[in-house]
Amino acid sequence: MLTIVGSGKVGGDAALFSALKKLDDQILLLDVAEGLPQGEAMDINHMLSEQGIDVEVKGSNDFADMQGSNIVVVVAGSGRKPGMTRMDLLKINASIVKSVVENIKKYANDSMIIPVTNPLDPMAYITYKVSGFERSRVFGMGGMLDLSRFKQFIHEATGHSRDSIRALVIGEHGENMMPLPRYSSVSGIPLPAILPKEKLDELVQNTKQVAAKVIELKGATVHAPGNAISSIIESVVRDRKQVIPVATYLDGEYGHSDVTVGVPAVVGKRGVEKIIELDLDENEKQMFEKSVQSVKDAVSGIEI
Ligand code: LAC
Repeated sequence: MLTIVGSGKVGGDAALFSALKKLDDQILLLDVAEGLPQGEAMDINHMLSEQGIDVEVKGSNDFADMQGSNIVVVVAGSGRKPGMTRMDLLKINASIVKSVVENIKKYANDSMIIPVTNPLDPMAYITYKVSGFERSRVFGMGGMLDLSRFKQFIHEATGHSRDSIRALVIGEHGENMMPLPRYSSVSGIPLPAILPKEKLDELVQNTKQVAAKVIELKGATVHAPGNAISSIIESVVRDRKQVIPVATYLDGEYGHSDVTVGVPAVVGKRGVEKIIELDLDENEKQMFEKSVQSVKDAVSGIEI
């Protein structure tokens, strides 16, 4: 069973995309808000019935219902308001995530956990530490969402089919995120061979800033995160072994330990099956250090 803790806009969308992709026969939406997960589940089931898709979505306020889940997505907590950074949510969401993970330990101790709650990288660290799970079973969704935006900007700048575009974003899912033009391509042609540096710099900045713009315009980001969550789940349940940037615990990789930050990883049925260490140039190394330090500073102020 797939469980999604947090039945707001993003959680509901993740359930909807996962159901449409038939990623599990049973999807559980959990929330502390009475009625919200139940109503969301009913609404999705009505859609699935018209589509003729026999995936059962259930809504509950009882954490015990997650018993037997193989994957638990944690998207519970507050979202950004216009003008806020993701890191502004640190204190309020840390206590929520800790409480949710305690329940996962209690009721779904054999599951894999996909943190989504912001600030993502510190929340993934808290999830790893509080759960006590092997690091392969904790991988946060951040870079997958960022690269979807980077791909859109590359599509707009080049006019090439979205299907021919590959993009990579690592580091913190936040102000220090690292869209990597050197590791992005169109039909295998590296991006720097296609676009001038000024344009690449513009696309990188746009990728960093666009979520805040969407929040300013429509109040929240919903479909892109919901889809990104379902794509990571798909790589696990179908054992696709896709290389996906996920926030996972480093134990020496990239020269760092005891930190959780976005790095490219092979994601399959056993979760994070391998962390891929890219050859970073000096500028990229400096940006990665900033990401790591930002996450370490954040978690240093949290009682775990
Ligand atoms: C975003 C939120 C999910 O980037 O961090 O849309």
